Amino acid sequence: MAEKVTITIDGRTVSAEAGEMLLWAALDNGIYIPHLCADREDKENPAASCRLCFVEVQGRPVPVPACTLPVSEGLVINTRSERVDGLVAAAFELLMSNHKLDCKNCPANGNCELQRIAKERKLRLKPKNLPVLERNLPVDNSVAGLVYDPNKCVLCGRCVRACRRGGNAVLGFTRRGYDRVVTTFGDVPLAESGCSGCGECAGACPVGAFSVQK
Ligand code: SF4
Ligand code: SF4
Ligand code: FES
Repeated sequence: MAEKVTITIDGRTVSAEAGEMLLWAALDNGIYIPHLCADREDKENPAASCRLCFVEVQGRPVPVPACTLPVSEGLVINTRSERVDGLVAAAFELLMSNHKLDCKNCPANGNCELQRIAKERKLRLKPKNLPVLERNLPVDNSVAGLVYDPNKCVLCGRCVRACRRGGNAVLGFTRRGYDRVVTTFGDVPLAESGCSGCGECAGACPVGAFSVQK
């Protein structure tokens, strides 16, 4: 059995498993930290790419991503500070600046991590300072029961990992910078990629980009 340690998050003393990443220790104790790319099925190998889970650690000069911080006895954390809030707000605004925002017609409406982050951190889903650059990429519904709308993708990579773990390993990232996108190898429609329609991707997607349709 893993050794237990005592840590303090936002003034609350909580118990956690020694060495587990702070993000999971906080979430499992009912303390919310924004996150998109972290994967419960692969906690030991955080992608740490969304830059939304920053926290302040007592004794460290700069904020640290909670998904990469193993907990140890006596750790003291603050999930909020002016610096953390500024970093999260800037990363969130950047993400939303090329997101096709249409919650009313989105399969994730009401169960979307972007909506949750906006609510928890009192952020606007619609960017305030940056122009919105929608990509208008084609929606792929070539496999029965599965829909992929790349315009809603936040590039967290969770579908790629889930497809490798439990699907047919047909997804990957392609292109760079603003054009970066999750697609099939060879950029072919899902139906031509070897996709079996298992829905692992949709189960992993924290937003409305991959979804199953009944
Ligand atoms: S992914 Fe989330 S924020 Fe984006 S349109 Fe869908 S429900 Fe709204
Ligand atoms: S489709 Fe969903 S799970 Fe995959 S990278 Fe985009 S947002 Fe993440
Ligand atoms: S959840 Fe930590 S960087 Fe994405």
